[in-house]
Amino acid sequence: MAKTSSSTAPSLSLELRGDGVAVVRFDTPGSSVNVLSRELVSEVERALDAIAEDPKIVAAVLVSGKPGTFIAGADLDQVLAMNSAEEGSRLSATGHALLDRIAASGKPFVAAVHGAALGGGLEVALACKYLLATDDEKTQLGLPEVMVGLLPGGGGTQRLPARVGLTAALPLLLTGKKLRAREAYKAGLVDALTTPGGLVETACLAARKLANGTLEPRERELSLDSLLSSTPLYRLVLAKAREDVMKKTRGLYPAPLAILECVEAGLSGGFAAGQDKEVELFGKLVAGPEAKNLIRLFKAMTDLKKTAADEKALAQPVKRLAVLGAGLMGEGIASVSLNLSSVVVKDVADASLARAAKNISRSLARRVKSGSLSRVSRDRQWAGLTLTTDPARIAGANLVIEAVFEDLELKRNVLAETEAVIADDAVFATNTSALPIGQIAKAAKDPTRVLGMHYFSPVPKMPLLEIVVTSKTSQRALATARAYGIAQGQTVIVVKDGPGFYTSRILAPFMNEAMLLLEEGAEIEALDRALKDFGFPVGPVTLLDEVGLDVAAHVGRDLGKAFVKRGLTPSAALPLIVEAGNLGRKNGKGFFLYAKDGHGRKPVNTDVYRFLGGSSRKAFAASEVVDRLTLQMANEAVYALEEGVLSSPQDGDVGAILGLGFPPFRGGPFRFLDSLGAEKVVTRMHELALAHGSRFTPHKRLVKMAVAGTRFYRE
Ligand code: NAI
Repeated sequence: MAKTSSSTAPSLSLELRGDGVAVVRFDTPGSSVNVLSRELVSEVERALDAIAEDPKIVAAVLVSGKPGTFIAGADLDQVLAMNSAEEGSRLSATGHALLDRIAASGKPFVAAVHGAALGGGLEVALACKYLLATDDEKTQLGLPEVMVGLLPGGGGTQRLPARVGLTAALPLLLTGKKLRAREAYKAGLVDALTTPGGLVETACLAARKLANGTLEPRERELSLDSLLSSTPLYRLVLAKAREDVMKKTRGLYPAPLAILECVEAGLSGGFAAGQDKEVELFGKLVAGPEAKNLIRLFKAMTDLKKTAADEKALAQPVKRLAVLGAGLMGEGIASVSLNLSSVVVKDVADASLARAAKNISRSLARRVKSGSLSRVSRDRQWAGLTLTTDPARIAGANLVIEAVFEDLELKRNVLAETEAVIADDAVFATNTSALPIGQIAKAAKDPTRVLGMHYFSPVPKMPLLEIVVTSKTSQRALATARAYGIAQGQTVIVVKDGPGFYTSRILAPFMNEAMLLLEEGAEIEALDRALKDFGFPVGPVTLLDEVGLDVAAHVGRDLGKAFVKRGLTPSAALPLIVEAGNLGRKNGKGFFLYAKDGHGRKPVNTDVYRFLGGSSRKAFAASEVVDRLTLQMANEAVYALEEGVLSSPQDGDVGAILGLGFPPFRGGPFRFLDSLGAEKVVTRMHELALAHGSRFTPHKRLVKMAVAGTRFYRE
């Protein structure tokens, strides 16, 4: 095997086979995945030279040396370190030059994809003449750049529509959606499918045949789609896509709009014009704050999915998980655990167990259909699931996650019942939304094994897990919960026990402020609009309806008690609204009205205005609404940090974004405070405190930061 020479360990190797096919194997040293870095570019250039110059080589195959991934994309650390648009543009132009060489090579290139081919990785594959992929659960193809605020700057905005058609390409480009192998084949993105074991041989055979003219890449059928791209009708499609993007993002995210510009430039001016647009706009995005915040979030999430080696050693292996309560949360928790261990779900109600069984079985079937789960894995997972009303069945569990009704007495009883049957080293977690873990653990035989595992609904879609530890929780219990949570695919933050932990704690004053504004005469829809324009996915009033007004009133009262000294008085109107029978979406009547089945939202429930000062409403400036709500939330986050509930601003930012929908492009409450600057924050909060009361008094850490001119993050 001939290795390309490099001063550091090489990222690729080139092997010339006897049949004239050069196999280029990517293998980034010291990393579990291949990333496209500056260093790799020169190595690829040298490999391309060697392939072009060596007359013995007739074709080339690109393959990964990593198990289970092809190329995961660009090196985001390098992108994050770029401080100017020029640097970004240079990177994009370099990528183009390299990939154009592959695309224009007289010797055909075959991409042999097993595992993730994402972002720059897929762009490399798209530049090849032929794309072969394994029909395997691990294989995924996509251009997720948009999710980190970037555009595919290596020709992806041009080559993807050219290959699969405009209407199939747009959702992939604009949402970052990833395709499984079979879906990618159906879409025309992949030329052929094979097995992981036969990948390299099949790729080499295809390469030889392409070289001798006995094989052609799949031809795209002459579909409506290809007609669209070849006539000015594409303008209509792009205009509609732009309209959809604006509706979804309110224009707050520059990347999807930039992607549409690139696609348009290519369709109207040709491939080179499209590439030029990529170079220009990639640079702009790299230099902007949105991409930086989104990349940091991505990196933070990646970090929070790892366990430190010493903690890993402490974790109790979980062979059997017990979930107590087969309600909404219990079912979700069981669902995301079936691939990790055997799971026993215990409930007191047969009806809950039956519903959970039906839903879990349906979701497994859906995953088999989409290709993300094999039949064998489905059967194994289903066989590992036990649904029971018999408490004795949880005896062998190493980890128990309790998700019964939110009731302190019930939770204490369930803990006592459970401790009577489980082994001494089993860990007990409660998925309470806000009950203090210390109080639940008070009567425990062994409080060191008790902690909170606070999931968000719906569990399979919500990636955050807030683990709550008390002063008694052992390191072993924490290590076990964190390792299991990470294996479930969650992003885990660990916080200390306290009123509302972290997420519920900072949400409460935010929602309460919305209530107080309503009491002052604000309009329901105006409040929602203001916060959505700021970037929240749903407004605070809609959120109150979703959470349930009874639950919100309950949490508000509890947290109000805890923070009464700081002037955080709970809304007096909310309990009255609840008493009058308005519980939110769940009973069809909250601040909005809903169709009977809880779906389809109808107009504002103007009846509630009688509890909020009457039907004549006042206009508030959107900026005032946003300042009042977001600064309440961010100030509370600072309290949580200073009290040691949070161990870092990064945890607080990730928790607020993933758990509460804080606008990701703003980077979370701490990044948001940094972007405003402490001085401005403190000045504004003093103004608000004068006008509305002491709840707006900024935390003294903010005041100190304003004086010293410091920030939460160094960069
Ligand atoms: P749910 O009402 O859907 O389900 C609760 C289930 O617990 C019911 O099936 C009930 O039959 C069962 N149950 C009651 N007593 C039991 C016992 N002694 N042993 C076994 N099962 C028993 O409730 P949901 O929404 O699933 O909430 C469960 C917990 O999760 C609550 O503490 C809640 O505060 C918390 N939570 C809820 C979230 C949500 O969005 N719904 C989010 C995060 C936490």
